[in-house]
Amino acid sequence: MSLTVDGIHTYYGQSHVLQGISLNVGDGETVALLGRNGAGKTTTMRSIVGLTPARSGSIRLDDKEISRLQAYRLARLGLSFVPSGRRVYGSLTVRQNLALAAERPRKEAAWSLERVHDMFPNLVTLAGRQAGHLSGGEQQMLKLARALLGGPRILLLDEPTEGLAPGIVADLGRWLAILRKEKVTVLITEQNALFALRYADRGYIIEKGTVRYEAPAAELRDSAEIRRYLGVGVDT
Ligand SMILES: Nc1ncnc2c1ncn2[C@@H]1O[C@H](COP(=O)(O)OP(=O)(O)OP(=O)(O)O)[C@@H](O)[C@H]1O
Ligand SMILES: [Mg+2]
Repeated sequence: MSLTVDGIHTYYGQSHVLQGISLNVGDGETVALLGRNGAGKTTTMRSIVGLTPARSGSIRLDDKEISRLQAYRLARLGLSFVPSGRRVYGSLTVRQNLALAAERPRKEAAWSLERVHDMFPNLVTLAGRQAGHLSGGEQQMLKLARALLGGPRILLLDEPTEGLAPGIVADLGRWLAILRKEKVTVLITEQNALFALRYADRGYIIEKGTVRYEAPAAELRDSAEIRRYLGVGVDT
């Protein structure tokens, strides 16, 4: 499923945050959405999923206009937003969190529990644990597993490496590589720009709610200008 965002304007009250953002994610593509703090990355995702609706502009999934649809209808179409931070049902066990996610309506397209366990074998070991007691990396894994059980046709990942230890970031990289191979359409934001660009096909860099650069990921990764702009050092 492809996503097209065409000239959206989004406000928080009087504050005009997105000032005509346009981007597209082709079917099966992984696209990185980068920019400094406060550039509008999270707001772009919130606008796409209808949590902070755009006031004007167009958002389409394949050819279907979705900018006026409510969040639950978008979820039914296969749009899945994985917000940053700890968003799991903390008082439920891992097993219960996964069971709830598997109740979602898009059963035909969903990943089976078995397939999700193949991707995240640690979740089998953790099944009886209370989700609120998991580490940041384990919760990130659980959030991704939940999203896959819902049968996403496009995944929006907001800062998935936030707060993760380096070893877990490497795991996350492996999962992103699998999603790319499986042709799940992904839009990912990251403070860790080089990490995202390693797993993306293309990238956009936004500034003050507008797109400043757009290029293939390898080009952005190799550009001294872009690295300077994003304040990132030499790739490791
Ligand atoms: N709920 C809100 N109410 C008012 N202003 C907000 C709200 N959320 C975000 N903003 C403002 O909108 C702008 C864009 O914020 P956004 O969270 O989209 O940035 P971001 O690129 O995701 O930044 P970060 O890298 O820090 O996550 C910022 O100036 C921010 O202060
Ligand atoms: Mg953000």
